[in-house]
Order: sequence, then structure tokens, then C-alpha cells
Amino acid sequence: MSKPSFNLLLNLLSPSLESALPTIPPNYSLAAALFRLAHGASYKAVARRFRIDSAEACRAFYLVCKEVNDKLGHLFEFSSDLETIVMGFGWNSLPNCFGVLGLAKFGIDGELLGKDGSLMVQALVGSEGRFLDVSAGWPSTMKPQTILLQSKLYLEVEKSKELLNGPSIENDGHLIPRYILGDSYFPLLTWLLTPYNRLNEEDSFSSLERAFNSVHDNAIGIVRIAFQRLRARWQLLAKQWKEECVEFLPFVIVTGCLLHNFLIKCGEPMPDKNTGHVKEVDLPVFDGDVDENAQRIRDILAMHLSQWRSRKIALPS
Ligand SMILES: *[C@@H]1O[C@H](CO)[C@@H](O)[C@H](O)[C@H]1NC(C)=O
Repeated sequence: MSKPSFNLLLNLLSPSLESALPTIPPNYSLAAALFRLAHGASYKAVARRFRIDSAEACRAFYLVCKEVNDKLGHLFEFSSDLETIVMGFGWNSLPNCFGVLGLAKFGIDGELLGKDGSLMVQALVGSEGRFLDVSAGWPSTMKPQTILLQSKLYLEVEKSKELLNGPSIENDGHLIPRYILGDSYFPLLTWLLTPYNRLNEEDSFSSLERAFNSVHDNAIGIVRIAFQRLRARWQLLAKQWKEECVEFLPFVIVTGCLLHNFLIKCGEPMPDKNTGHVKEVDLPVFDGDVDENAQRIRDILAMHLSQWRSRKIALPS
């Protein structure tokens, strides 16, 4: 993190850090907390480096997390920044898209959530890799559609007529409403478009479906890369989390995502996405009921994308 970004953050958090933890100067509290988040350092190592004691290092860490949630929470407000988000995807030739939705797993030690148990995080990500909405802390034993249906994002989108009634794009007399692209383990909804899948192995994809799936797959990569970068930037989130502290993990993940957005806003360079070993999300494709209206919308978008592609090829360069 560059000095100007650090100072900007310090200015935001300083008053509350100072009053809640008067024994340590706020610049030390903030630096110590960011050091732990960035390097996955133990409280003992943080304490040694900043010449405070371990209990203070721990207090500083959770205090900074809390203050980041309070002061930077607005950086998730996807509904207030919708036009910019939609425009961002427009540049990537996805008309009327307002995010890409996926899940990531964060491993925890022990058998609390079964063998290889982890916490799941659902994230909506914008074209430039910003987290637009994060819902953290679902046990890996839960199905993706259950997580989705219980998330605030789902309730907000279903409730807010404004989001769904945003201007549609016309394609050959058909309308493409606002939508999110979702990974294959989510249900297909009128506003959540997942890839075409074949539960019956013998059926093959049409060329239109294949083309759509390839565009879709590229877009889903935005979520995977965002999580890789998050873990590269905040290596504490790339480690197995201790079972006895599991209740704090969602809070720390959300803090990491908010700080990630903050640094994007500050124009800081993106970290390298190479983070070594990270649990791949390997979830079965959704196989519940399909919404016919949603299928129709997906077909219209697929048609639009394929026409756009052939037009692009036909244009003289
Ligand atoms: C941290 O803040 C203290 C008190 O405000 C100040 O004296 C000190 O120079 C600062 N340290 C650094 C490294 O900026």
C-alpha cells in the first residue's frame, strides 16, 4: 500500500482508533493490523515488530476491522453505482450486465464443518474486479442455491423493481433486461443467467450455446481472479483459519474485500494473482427446475452476443 493511500485510510479511521485504543498511536494500530492481514503474521510476530504486546496487537486488529466495516461499508453499495457498473460490462461487450456472481471457499482447520470443511463466500464482482456485494460465512455443507436465496443480494434484487426494471437493450425486437451472470451451480433466474448445461451427456450444444458458454466462462473468470487477488493482497485470507476463531472469519473476509475496493479506488496497482495453493470451488451444476422465462432471456442474449461477434469480424480494421 502506498503512503498516500495509507494516510487517506489513517485519516478516516484515526479518530475512532484513538478513542478506542488510546495506548497505541493510531498509525501503529493501523499499520499493525494491515501487516497481519497482508502477511498472515501471528499476533506475536506483529507485536515484536511494532513493539506492542500480543493482546494489544489482537485488539488493534479487530478494532481496525470493525472501523473499516463502519467507515468503508459504502464501497459495497452496488445499487447506487449501477449505471457505472453496467457501462463497465458494456465495454466488455456484455450489454446490460450488472455483475458476475460466484462462490469461494475459505478453509478452516479441524472438523467443525466436517472433513475439509470451509466457509463459503458469495460475491458479486464488477468488470474491473471490484467487489460489489459480499455475503460471507456460509458453511460448505450448504447448497449454492440455498446460499443465494438467503443472501441479501437476492432479497434486494427481487424486491427492488428499479433494479430489474432498468432500461432493457433491444435486439431484433427482443428485449434484454438487466442481468447478472452466475456460475453453473446457481439456478437460472430471469436476472441470473447461468451457462447452458446438458444433464444428459448425449445431447450436444448448438454453436450458439457454445459461443454463449465461452463468453460466460470468460466473465466468470472475473470472480475467480478477484478472489485470487484478494488472497494475494491479504495473505491472511489464503491460510487455513483456526477453528476456534471461525466466528470472526466472515468479518475479516469482508474487511479484506472492502480494503481491496478501497485500494482500487485509490488507483493502487492490482497484486499478482499467484497465491500458491487455494481450494478450488468444485460444486455440482444446478439441476433443479428451470424457469422458462429465464431460458428465453438467455437465448436472446446468446443471439445478441453471436451477432455482435460476427459484426465485429465483418468490420474492416
Ligand atoms: C505515528 O504517530 C505519532 C504520533 O502521532 C508520530 O509521532 C510518529 O512520527 C508517527 N510515526 C510514523 C512512522 O509516521
